[in-house]
This record gives sequence, C-alpha cells and structure tokens, in this order.
Amino acid sequence: MSAGADKRVVVLAGDGIGPEVVAEARAVVDAAAARVGLRVCYDEQLIGGVAIDATGEALPERTLDACRDADAVLLGAVGGPKWDDPNAPVRPEQGLLGLRKGLGLFANLRPVRAHPALLDASPLRPERLSGVDLLVVRELTGGIYFGTPRLLEAVPGGGTRALDTMVYTDAEVRRVVALACRLAAGRRGRVTSVDKANVLESSRLWRRVATEVAAAHPAVELDHLLVDAAAMRLITSAAGFDVVVTSNMFGDILTDEASVLTGSIGMLPSASLGARGPGLYEPIHGSAPDIAGRGLANPLGAILSAAMMLRHSLDCPAGAALIERAVDDCVQAGARTADLGGSLGTAEMGAAVREALARVPAQ
Ligand code: IPM
Ligand code: MG
Repeated sequence: MSAGADKRVVVLAGDGIGPEVVAEARAVVDAAAARVGLRVCYDEQLIGGVAIDATGEALPERTLDACRDADAVLLGAVGGPKWDDPNAPVRPEQGLLGLRKGLGLFANLRPVRAHPALLDASPLRPERLSGVDLLVVRELTGGIYFGTPRLLEAVPGGGTRALDTMVYTDAEVRRVVALACRLAAGRRGRVTSVDKANVLESSRLWRRVATEVAAAHPAVELDHLLVDAAAMRLITSAAGFDVVVTSNMFGDILTDEASVLTGSIGMLPSASLGARGPGLYEPIHGSAPDIAGRGLANPLGAILSAAMMLRHSLDCPAGAALIERAVDDCVQAGARTADLGGSLGTAEMGAAVREALARVPAQ
C-alpha cells in the first residue's frame, strides 16, 4: 500500500478498562501501519463517565464534531459504578447511544469465531464449538433502544409505571438486512433473521421485509428463527449459523451469549457502520469495573476491533489481515490473559501480538 494522506482516528478510551485495552489496540495499529505504509493520526476525546465528570455531558458536542470529521472512531468502554445511580439524569451509556445515533451507525457487525486453540477456554463442550464462524449483524439505531414514548411516571391511585417502546420502520429493517445479505454473499451465503414474530408486531414487519430483501439477493439463502430458539441454537449448534441479522436488543443479548463460544467476552470485536461517514470500532465487552486499572483485561477484542477499522474505514485490508494473523498466531502459541485461564496482563498480551505481528512474513 502506498503512503497516502494521514488517516484520522478519534480515540474514545472512555471508562473502566477502556483506556487499558485501547492503548494496546493503538500500539498494534501503529505496528501494523508501519509494516504496510499506512499513516494514522489520533485525536483523543471524551465520552461516557469521564466526559460527565469533565463536562457534565456523556457525549460533549466537541466529541461528536471530532468524530464526524474523522475517518474512524476507536472506542474502549463506557460506564461504571460511579455513574450507576439509576435516577441520574445523565448516564455514560447515553454517550455511546448518542454517538451511534449521531453518526447514523445503523449496523453493528459482531464476528464470532471459536479459535481452535481456545476450545478449552469455553464452558461448552468442544464438539459444540468446532467450526463456529458466524457474524451477527445487529440493528443499532432503532428498536426499543430508541423508541418513544419512554417514560417513568406515577400511576394515579398509587404505584409507578415505566414505559419503553419498540418501533421499526420498513426502511430501517431493509437497510440492515440488505447489508447482512451483501456480507453473506461474501461468506457462506446464508442469512438467519432472528425475531419474535409469534408475539411482536414489529417482528412481523421485520420478517416480511427481510423476506422481500432476501428475494432480491438470489445468492443468499434466508431463514427465520424466533429469538428464544436462536438463543438455544447458539449453545447447541452454533456452527450452523453464517450471518445472523436481528434487532437492536436481541442482537445485544445474543452477542453476549455468543461470546461464550469464543472462550471470553474479551475476545469479541465489533464494527458499527452507516451509509457513509466514519465507522465506530469497539470491543463488545463493558467497562469491567471489577478489574479496571489493574492491567488484567484482555485487549484482544479491542485489537481485533482495530483490525476491523483498518478493513472497513481506513482502506487497509492488508493491515487488518496482518493484525488478525498476529492475534491468531499468538493465541495459537498459548498467549492467554486471565479471562482465558492464563496469566498475561493487558500490556503483555499487547506486546505478544506486536511480536507475533513482526514475525508474520511479508506477503
Ligand atoms: C453493547 C453494550 C451497550 C448496548 C450498552 C453499554 C449501552 O451492551 O454495546 O453491547 O447495550 O448496546
Ligand atoms: Mg451489550
């Protein structure tokens, strides 16, 4: 790859283990960039709890503006006990949701692969794991996460009631299912659309639109699965899935579940993409306050998210492949953080990836 203009990456380290894992991801990006002649510059901004402490807002305008102007955004995690008061008017998670919405990132790609060397790190039996290589495409800017009305109110005569609303338009379903179909065409050609169409009106719309969209993609075979059955199949026979497309909340829940197949939630990367503009790259794990600041967190989810960033936003598939190969090699060689039953710290795991990267032969 020839050296072009600098790619601009906004870094939102955020809360908890966010800064620790993002530091390793950044160092790995630099190592890969040096190998392939990519130039990256970073702009650190605030989000989540640290942003609330500094500015009173979870997503300061300055952060959103910087993200809009960037080629990509690399994020660690948001949230923590310090900001967990359920009655607080401002919460760290609002920063993340505002960023997703503000950048129009309607599709969240969460690849789940059971690495052969990590089969023993999962509580599931190895035969349930071998061959697992699936991609969850989670709708990210609609559904119950963003539904209105949303309220908490006193009920006349006593008590309190809370209300969230689940809304989907056909256009919202169409664009995310179409993306899932395009991605499936480059994989094994199968899309499983997950819904709760036996109960929810929004799911019946989802299913109808998904069927229409898939009909326009003859190379793709679509099937439908109810979310409760999907939750079970992820444990019993996940190798049967190729691309799974689903709504915002179902995707949130199913991907935490699916992470168990990989051995640890610390392994799972994600890319959030819109129709245009910068993508957002973040591990799917949370801020892990129990281990924050102790140098114990697994940085591989963040590092693999950075690889997705090189592929989807920085026009550098060679750098992405290099990082993914390095992670594979060092996992194969037995590098393990505590979540995977090992003893490496965050920085040691990052260093192991960079050493493996330096050993990947030039293509
Ligand atoms: C995720 C997280 C977020 C979500 C939280 C932190 C708001 O769980 O990215 O999966 O629910 O989307
Ligand atoms: Mg989640």
